[in-house]
Amino acid sequence: MGRILTGDRPTGPLHIGHYFGSLKNRVELQTLHETYILIADLQALTDNFDDPQKVRDNVKEVLLDYLACGINPDKTNIVLQSKIPAISELTIYFSNLVTMARLSRNPTVKEEIKQKQHLAGDSLTYGFFGYPVSQAADILSFNADIVPVGEDQLPMIELTREIARRFNQIYGQFFVEPDAIVPKGSSRVMGLDGNSKMSKSLGNAIYIKDTPDEIKQKIFSAYTDPLKLRKNDAGHPDGCMVYYYRKLFTENNIAQNELQQVYQQCKNGERGCVLCKQELTEIVVNFLKPFYEKRREMEKDISIPFKILRNGTRKANEVTDKILQDAKSLMKIDYNFIFKI
Ligand code: TRP
Ligand code: SF4
Repeated sequence: MGRILTGDRPTGPLHIGHYFGSLKNRVELQTLHETYILIADLQALTDNFDDPQKVRDNVKEVLLDYLACGINPDKTNIVLQSKIPAISELTIYFSNLVTMARLSRNPTVKEEIKQKQHLAGDSLTYGFFGYPVSQAADILSFNADIVPVGEDQLPMIELTREIARRFNQIYGQFFVEPDAIVPKGSSRVMGLDGNSKMSKSLGNAIYIKDTPDEIKQKIFSAYTDPLKLRKNDAGHPDGCMVYYYRKLFTENNIAQNELQQVYQQCKNGERGCVLCKQELTEIVVNFLKPFYEKRREMEKDISIPFKILRNGTRKANEVTDKILQDAKSLMKIDYNFIFKI
């Protein structure tokens, strides 16, 4: 049995990109390993520091989404990052072990800077630029050996391994070099509009908390083959988002034959987009229904999920406090000989 640490930024409710990209994997892994999931509010603040209410609101959303989609609080500790002081402290120590050159090569951060106007050029903050160091502290403060994440997070895990190695070289063998686990196949989910990434900021997401009506509306306005205007026009399912999601939900389910049939019928001009959208709506609504119901139930008495978060955070602090103390001893900054009474 290993120890898992993973997390999400609370910048919005979670969508099916999160689900297929990593949540599903975490739900499966939680029975096998000691698991901690971090609601990374400090990391969310690195690019939302001017909108703290948004981050606070989404801590609740993400917590409810976790519980809705099968994260089981008897198996997984759900943890609030800002309530784990060891993480912030280790971030400072680790910042000495990483060069500016190394940070500026991080492809994930580069991509984010490119996508978000407010991070460009002179507006790039020290906090955002350095958040991979804080993410390494998230992982190492638990001495986790397994990190289940989406593929875009691999550079963060690589940096974490480097920091662990550097610490161990300088101060003595202590931190575990963690391994990432990325789900096979559907690790990145495309958006309703055909964009290569489903994301809240692009407005092209199906959320775990969407109602059946919202799901229907979204699917009916999804990008399909623009050349297929009538039912008997020959279509191109390969570029069509309705087909893409059908495949996504099928890969993670049964009914492979049906999928083949849809493909052929579309190509042969024997199937209309409206029927396709109706069928997909039913598939997605049925798939998300248990999540939706569980979320509803949890929302009724918010003190229950809040208590789950409190308990998870308390248990996490027991682990991280100890690791922090041991790391500080190795760094010769414990000063117990002066400060211990
Ligand atoms: N950076 C991750 C994301 O954007 C979230 C995250 C924060 C995380 N801390 C973590 C993931 C630690 C894995 C481990 O999705
Ligand atoms: Fe897409 Fe279905 Fe329309 Fe073909 S028939 S373009 S698969 S929605």
